[in-house]
Amino acid sequence: YPFWAQETAPENPREATGRIVCANCHLAEKEAEIELPLSVAPDSVFEAVVHIPYDTDVQQVLGDGSKGDLNVGAVLMLPEGFKIAPPERMTEEMQEKVGDVFFQPYREGLENVVLVGPLPGEQYQEITFPILSPDPNSNRDLHFGKYPVYLGANRGRGQVYPAGNKSNNTVYNASKAGTIASIVDNGFGYDVTIETSEGDNVVESIPPGPELIISEGDEVGKGDPLTNDPNVGGFGQEDSEIVLQSPARIKGLIAFMGVIMLAQVLLVLKKKQVERVQAVEMNF
Ligand code: HEM
Repeated sequence: YPFWAQETAPENPREATGRIVCANCHLAEKEAEIELPLSVAPDSVFEAVVHIPYDTDVQQVLGDGSKGDLNVGAVLMLPEGFKIAPPERMTEEMQEKVGDVFFQPYREGLENVVLVGPLPGEQYQEITFPILSPDPNSNRDLHFGKYPVYLGANRGRGQVYPAGNKSNNTVYNASKAGTIASIVDNGFGYDVTIETSEGDNVVESIPPGPELIISEGDEVGKGDPLTNDPNVGGFGQEDSEIVLQSPARIKGLIAFMGVIMLAQVLLVLKKKQVERVQAVEMNF
């Protein structure tokens, strides 16, 4: 869950390697995509649309081993000064698109990093973030320019809990090599006993969810899977960028192009004038 990212990486969800911390527990990889405008004006509201595609016909294992729908969540890291737009700055159409999604800053003082989720994936394979750009003219610490934007987005349950223990949404392996001596259904999963070649017994507790792929009498090597991998979800990241554009620069460019065009027209007119004079001179 996004709050486990806040708990395990309280400063910032992006590691020095560029990895977003959700990936530490959501081990499978699936695509995630962000759509942004190329450039935005200062103090303006725009949309960032996050796509978290998956097949909604597929169900995942839940904590008790039963099957259920997937949820989605995301973390969006915007450049400094950007934040979620207040409702009064949004158009009605935008408010409709955004719905009642709750956007949470990653921590106090870090409003440009935004968390959402868990949300029901059926409705939220596409999440619209309403964003307000900052105005460098009123804040001297901010500057116009091109900045990176990082997205991390996820569908489905993670494989590891914050304490490091596995969830039931992952594959379980043999911790020792040996022979499967017994498989006991304990009412909440299975106890699989492996007898090693030294005659020791190791009991692997497997929660409900993953399906056993071994049976009594099978030989297993150390690390061999005892179950299938029930996970159908996954986490994905995308790096993008956005330009915080100075309107003065655009106006300057347009004025410059206007001057160039006018100069060209004047040169052509001058040439025509010279030609006319030459034509008159030739008649005499
Ligand atoms: C569940 C998103 C970080 C471990 C979920 C769910 C979402 C989600 C949407 C619900 C999935 C469902 O019900 O189908 C995220 C995002 C993260 C993040 C966006 C980063 C910002 C983490 C971290 C950990 C973690 C850091 C581990 C420390 C899990 C586990 C579950 C889960 C174990 C399943 C919980 C259960 O049902 O028992 N996460 N997560 N997640 N997440 Fe994360």
